[in-house]
Amino acid sequence: MNESAPLVTIDAAAPQADRIARAARIIRNGGLVVFPTETVYGLGANALDASAVARIYSAKGRPTWNPVIAHVACVADARELVATWTDEAERLATTFWPGPLTLVLPKRDIVPDVATAGLPAIGVRVPHHPVALALLRAAACPIAAPSANRFTQVSPTTAQHAMESLGDRVDLVLDGGACEVGIESTVLDLTGDVPAVLRPGMITRAQIATVLGRDVLDLSQRTVSTDATAAPQHSPGMSDRHYAPRADVWLFDGEDSAELARALASHRNDRNAGPVTALVFSATPSVQTGDRIVRMPADPSLYARLLYAVLHEADAAGATVIVIERPPHDERWAGVRNRLERSSR
Ligand code: TXA
Ligand code: MG
Repeated sequence: MNESAPLVTIDAAAPQADRIARAARIIRNGGLVVFPTETVYGLGANALDASAVARIYSAKGRPTWNPVIAHVACVADARELVATWTDEAERLATTFWPGPLTLVLPKRDIVPDVATAGLPAIGVRVPHHPVALALLRAAACPIAAPSANRFTQVSPTTAQHAMESLGDRVDLVLDGGACEVGIESTVLDLTGDVPAVLRPGMITRAQIATVLGRDVLDLSQRTVSTDATAAPQHSPGMSDRHYAPRADVWLFDGEDSAELARALASHRNDRNAGPVTALVFSATPSVQTGDRIVRMPADPSLYARLLYAVLHEADAAGATVIVIERPPHDERWAGVRNRLERSSR
């Protein structure tokens, strides 16, 4: 497929039935549909159709050891995919679904191995977005959907981001406006003795621990190689360089403005130095013509909502360096901090 896919606008609050039906038909027929969720845009295919799921991997250029998340409309549909639905899964689903929490549980045989990258467990979630939910109900199948970007690129929070990245590799793009949460779901592994966060998100480890009444591990610091041919090591999909804009990303502490100034000065000594974009709360880096300073919200939810759009804009503006003031060391910032660390490697 080399032509651009049709881009269909859809009412995010009250999705038009005919547009949903068109997208659902494509999913049923083994095609690929980009659709909005509350976190980021997803690249969806029928999760029970092995060849449709395989198309996701080739469209993204994603290594086959990296499992995809299955989206479902309700808890009953989640239970169809998993071999064991625990009491803890039930409590978390009751509290956080629909919402940005993915639960990893042992899979049933009906889930094709390609969807879980050969792992015995599957990640499932009920997304909190009327378009995603309407599509799931109309397609009447679980929808496997990673973020709708090429492998290692910044995830899309608008249909335009997804179009730029994958427009010529999918069958339809539903444009439901900008995503509210802005970073990907929290991924929680429930297959071990102790629940473990594999990827932090806006639902925090502390919130999960409160619901479960026990400790939750943080395994999100583990990484694997980005070498597409490398075998999986520990936590699949948590590639070292991920969520990465084209520009180099430098993180700095607000109180370290001297170090930042030195780094910027040496950058500018380079003849090929391009413009700089700075994401700050409090610091005021020295700027030159062509540079951009983006003042970011001091609230983690608002920050997360904007982050990827700002990174996409920096790339579009031709920034060669993005300097980012580190957010506070507070649990509520864990998801944002994780994305920043990974984009800066
Ligand atoms: O918010 C989100 O989760 C978005 C939207 C579209 O729902 N999706 C998303 O998918 O971010 P993706 O493929 O970009 O990231 C999914 C990550 C994988 O990289 C992997 O780390 C983890 O979820 N994951 C999925 N299935 C897993 C499994 N069976 N075992 C362990 N980790 C799994
Ligand atoms: Mg992704």
